[in-house]
Amino acid sequence: MAVPGFILGVFIHLLHISSVANYPNGKVAKSCHGMIPEHGHSPQSHPIHHISVNQTTFQPGDQLKVTLSGPPFKGFLLEARDAEDLSGPLIGSFTLIDSELSQILTCEDIQGSAVSHRNPSKKNDIEVYWHAPSSAPNHIQFLATVVEKYKIYWVKIPGSIISQPNALPFTTPKATTARLSTLPPDSHLTKPFSASACGNTKFCIRSPLNCDPEKERACVFLSFMRDDRSVMVEMSGPSKGYLSFALSHDRWMGDDDAYLCIRDDQTVHIQASHLTGRSHPVMDSEGSLEDMAWRLADGVIQCSFRRNISLPGFKNRFDLNTSYYIFIADGAADDGRIYKHAQQPLITYEKHNVMDFPKNIGGSHSLFLLKVHAALMFVAWMTTVSIGVLIARFFKPVWSKAFFFGEAAWFQVHRMLMITTSVLTCVAFVLPFMYRGGWSRHAGYHPYLGCVVMALAVLQPLLAAFRPPIHDPRRQMFNWTHWSMGTAARIIAVAAMFLGMDLPGLNLPELWKTYAMIGFVAWHVGTEIVLEIHAYRLTRKVEILDDTRIQILQSFTAAEAEGHTFKKAVLALYVWGNVTFLIMFLSAISQL
Ligand SMILES: *[C@@H]1O[C@H](CO)[C@@H](O)[C@H](O)[C@H]1NC(C)=O
Ligand SMILES: *[C@@H]1O[C@H](CO)[C@@H](O)[C@H](O)[C@H]1NC(C)=O
Ligand SMILES: *[C@@H]1O[C@H](CO)[C@@H](O)[C@H](O)[C@H]1NC(C)=O
Repeated sequence: MAVPGFILGVFIHLLHISSVANYPNGKVAKSCHGMIPEHGHSPQSHPIHHISVNQTTFQPGDQLKVTLSGPPFKGFLLEARDAEDLSGPLIGSFTLIDSELSQILTCEDIQGSAVSHRNPSKKNDIEVYWHAPSSAPNHIQFLATVVEKYKIYWVKIPGSIISQPNALPFTTPKATTARLSTLPPDSHLTKPFSASACGNTKFCIRSPLNCDPEKERACVFLSFMRDDRSVMVEMSGPSKGYLSFALSHDRWMGDDDAYLCIRDDQTVHIQASHLTGRSHPVMDSEGSLEDMAWRLADGVIQCSFRRNISLPGFKNRFDLNTSYYIFIADGAADDGRIYKHAQQPLITYEKHNVMDFPKNIGGSHSLFLLKVHAALMFVAWMTTVSIGVLIARFFKPVWSKAFFFGEAAWFQVHRMLMITTSVLTCVAFVLPFMYRGGWSRHAGYHPYLGCVVMALAVLQPLLAAFRPPIHDPRRQMFNWTHWSMGTAARIIAVAAMFLGMDLPGLNLPELWKTYAMIGFVAWHVGTEIVLEIHAYRLTRKVEILDDTRIQILQSFTAAEAEGHTFKKAVLALYVWGNVTFLIMFLSAISQL
């Protein structure tokens, strides 16, 4: 399959061969079908190249000579199709005359169904043989796409039509309309949109805030520019599938007026649609949009159209002279069908009337409540709970003699950190319910785990408050229950954090978040292991000293003191690392 890979590489980037390996073979078949190179410029309209055949009639099994000629060109793609169905399957097969210049392609699973150039050298003409298959239709038309240079190319140049001898004469109009309908009628944008008029004559929404679509590929840009009765809308951004925006009365998807720019192979369809709920938008086919134009370049979709401010004749189009929340979403598209956006749409912080004074605004992919929820949970289950547990587990002997408000210092610190954890959890827990107005049905297992953690976070301090006195026989049972419930809560909380970070509502950087979370878990578990080993060795030392009964008291105290210093150093180091991880997460969340 190296051959189709080659044409695609040349076709897409004119000899950036290194990128060929990145393209799966399926894409090749698509290029064969649309015959449009992915150069992101508009094709030329008037062909100057010519396709001729050495005879005008053919019979199944015949071999004919086909010539593509004209001013020097670098690349081409030649195919034969049923003249009455130009977007139908490829017909017949080609063999080469000059294999230095041309090569055979396997398009639509038929070997030799198309021919392309072998290298980007300049050529004046190309000759190949075409074999008529036994089941050939009555009329065959040859089609070619010719690339003169990167920005200058012609798509689906119509060539000679050949017919079987007994067939009725071919009527041309049908072929012409078929050809035109496969061409994008409205691709005449030639450069990125300009943000220079933002806040001046254009109302702009950009993400990242104030990015420049002319310079930054990652810039998502939506602008509205009004004149008397209509508004010019421009939208651009990186997307492999579609880009869309919606006008909404609330922060929810549903009952919204939406506009989509959907990439279909090498063309873009601009569509008005309405959203009836959290489901696939309903496309509105009526012609409410005018002056549509688009462009595809460097993975960026650009489209623009004009719309009347008020469209009383179209029931799903909102008046633009009212305030709305504005959503911008992107996602995958396949053959013109769109898929759910992979991440939460960008939503403006408040409602805006785009007909008012031109402004420059941004938006957020994560809603404020969800960000606060995440931040509080990180503080609770990453930092306060972890430090609180370490102190109870390892620092009892270190701070047993220090008292603070009538209780051992370790206990006061432990209790304070754990109560903080519970309080933060309670506060954070209600936020998603407020945000969603109920249960989050689309959040997978995360909310279920969250409820378990919440229940444990409430039970744990209650249990601790009613703990039996220190020498009570039931104290042992309390200790065990307290430890296991706490450990279960922490493990489930970590699982919930991993799942929660993957939800679209919190759009943290993809790989970074997983590595950072794994880093935190490793840091914590590592510290526990170090302290555990240290405690074990200390008991061994004391036992040995005990056995030999030499200077027991003195050595024991010395060893203990040394142990305490070590533990304190580990704790200090641990807290430093833990807080560093916390700050990393909090700052990532605050930047969303
Ligand atoms: C067209 O070319 C083919 C292949 O070379 C040849 O077999 C056929 O006879 C030619 N037809 C005419 C009319 O010259
Ligand atoms: C937009 O308004 C103009 C002027 O009122 C009108 O001629 C045109 O038909 C309207 N366009 C649509 C799509 O309704
Ligand atoms: C918006 O414009 C339409 C038509 O010009 C008008 O009927 C409507 O009252 C306007 N709405 C607002 C909120 O200004």
